[in-house]
Order: sequence, then C-alpha cells, then structure tokens
Amino acid sequence: MNKTILITGGAGFIGSNFIHYFIKEHPDYEIINLDKLTYAGNLENLKGVDDNPNYHFVKGDIANKELVEYLFQTFEPVYVVNFAAESHVDRSIEGPEVFIKSNVYGAQILLDVAKEFWLKNNMFDSARFLQISTDEVYGSLPLESSEKFTEDSLFKPNSPYSASKAAADLLARAYYITYNMPVLITRSSNNFGPRQYPEKLIPLTIITKKDFVEDGSAPAHVYAYGSYGLGMPVGFSSNFICIFFIRLGVFFWPGLTFARIKDN
Ligand SMILES: NC(=O)c1ccc[n+]([C@@H]2O[C@H](COP(=O)([O-])OP(=O)(O)OC[C@H]3O[C@@H](n4cnc5c(N)ncnc54)[C@H](O)[C@@H]3O)[C@@H](O)[C@H]2O)c1
Repeated sequence: MNKTILITGGAGFIGSNFIHYFIKEHPDYEIINLDKLTYAGNLENLKGVDDNPNYHFVKGDIANKELVEYLFQTFEPVYVVNFAAESHVDRSIEGPEVFIKSNVYGAQILLDVAKEFWLKNNMFDSARFLQISTDEVYGSLPLESSEKFTEDSLFKPNSPYSASKAAADLLARAYYITYNMPVLITRSSNNFGPRQYPEKLIPLTIITKKDFVEDGSAPAHVYAYGSYGLGMPVGFSSNFICIFFIRLGVFFWPGLTFARIKDN
C-alpha cells in the first residue's frame, strides 16, 4: 500500500507536534506538509524532522486547487490530515474573510481534490480524510450548567472562527454522506504545549506574567486547580510557580519543568 500522508498546517502548533509524533511512530511513511506559513506558521517548529528524507515541506495555500491537485498527482497521498486553518477567535472578529477562505473554501478544495483522486484510483477503502475541528462549533455552556456537549449536540458557533469550522465540518459530513468518502472529524477542546503561538491564553498568560514578575509589578505566584500543572519554570524566576486548570494536554514546554498535581 502507498504510504504517503498529506498534512496541512503542519508548521503551526498542533500540526507540527503531530508531525514530530508521526515521523517517530511511523518512520516508513512519506510526509507532505502543506502550509501557507501565515503569522502562525513557523518552520522552527519542525527542527529535528526537516532533514528527514521522508519529510517534504511545501509552502502553499490549501485553497489553491491547482497546487493541491499537483500534490495529489505527484505524491498520491492515501491519508489527509487537515490542520490548516486560521485559528484565533479574536482575529476572526476583527477580520472574518480570511477565515472563510482558509477554513471553509480551503477545506472544500482539499475534500474535493481528495475525493476525485481517491475515486479515480479506487482508493476509498484504504484512504482517510481527517478534518481537525473544534469543540467551539457547539458554542458554550454557562459555568454552572450540568449539560455536556456530545457529538450529537446542535451546532451553535459564537464567533466567525467557530462558524467557519462548523461550515467545514458540514462540508466534510456532506462528502461522507453524498460520496461515501472516508471522512473523519475530530473536535477537541483547547490544547496547550510546545510550539504554540503566543497569542493563545496560556502562553500569553505566562509571557505577560513573566514580564510583570521580572519588572517587580506583580506578585510572583499564580494558582488554579487541576490534574496537571507546570512547575518551576526555568528562566522565569526561581519562586514563580504556575499551576493551570487544564486537565489534559502536552506535558513539556521549552524551558519548563512539569509537575503532576493530584487530581481533586
Ligand atoms: N489550538 C487549539 O487549542 C485547538 C483546539 C481545537 C481545534 N483546533 C484546530 O486545530 C487546527 C490546528 O490548530 P493550531 O492551534 O495548531 O493552529 P495554528 O494557528 O497554530 O496553526 C495553523 C497553521 O495552518 C497554516 N495555515 C493557515 N491557513 C492556511 C492555508 N490557507 N493553507 C495552508 N496552511 C494554512 C498556518 O500557517 C499555521 O501553520 C486548526 O484547524 C484548529 O481549528 C485547535
């Protein structure tokens, strides 16, 4: 079987972590990383894998149909993992257009080119298209609510970002139903960890706090509750301890040592 995987948005936070993981766990696969290198994409995130002969980087837009067709014809990927997206809610409020272009139109181009290529080459049995989505398509719940979202919850996106992700999910579902295309969708909640662009909550909080601690304008400790935490950030301040409320996540951050906190 052909062992090529097309990963989009692989220079961003989650995509680059996925590539590091994937190349280690599946060294026999050929990886094509298609990334537009927006402000959020950084080739530094791929240090350590970029010299692997099975890894190929292509700078480009998932909404560029000719380019995506060229990549399918040249590399014949059997799997697609679509991480590529504009991903910051606040930016989507300032300027939604690029979110529609990348997250909706781009997803449709990828789905369509993959569908045509896999159909023509009789690959539906072995191929998979994984659309990376977000729990934000379900909207939000009041803190005191006992309701939980499930995969069957209604879509109630609250921002242009989550609306664009919901639109892509509906397209992905439609390709599955209409063409019987092998499509999967995953909707995780917030992630944090190494290689995350520092506009997101946790890295932004750490960086802001670090500045306040260093110039003496803030107390040195921040506390919250949870299962896992970050402790003793090397290079911050020796008495600065930072514990976050995230239950699941990646347990390494450059320059930080992590401690496991007892589950309450
Ligand atoms: N970060 C989270 O907590 C989180 C949670 C749930 C879901 N997601 C989803 O996971 C995916 C990855 O998120 P992330 O936090 O790594 O995002 P990110 O912003 O760090 O990375 C996005 C990457 O996509 C690339 N990109 C953007 N538009 C593109 C286009 N048109 N063509 C090609 N490449 C393009 C960027 O250059 C960047 O490298 C996104 O689809 C996001 O919606 C993220």
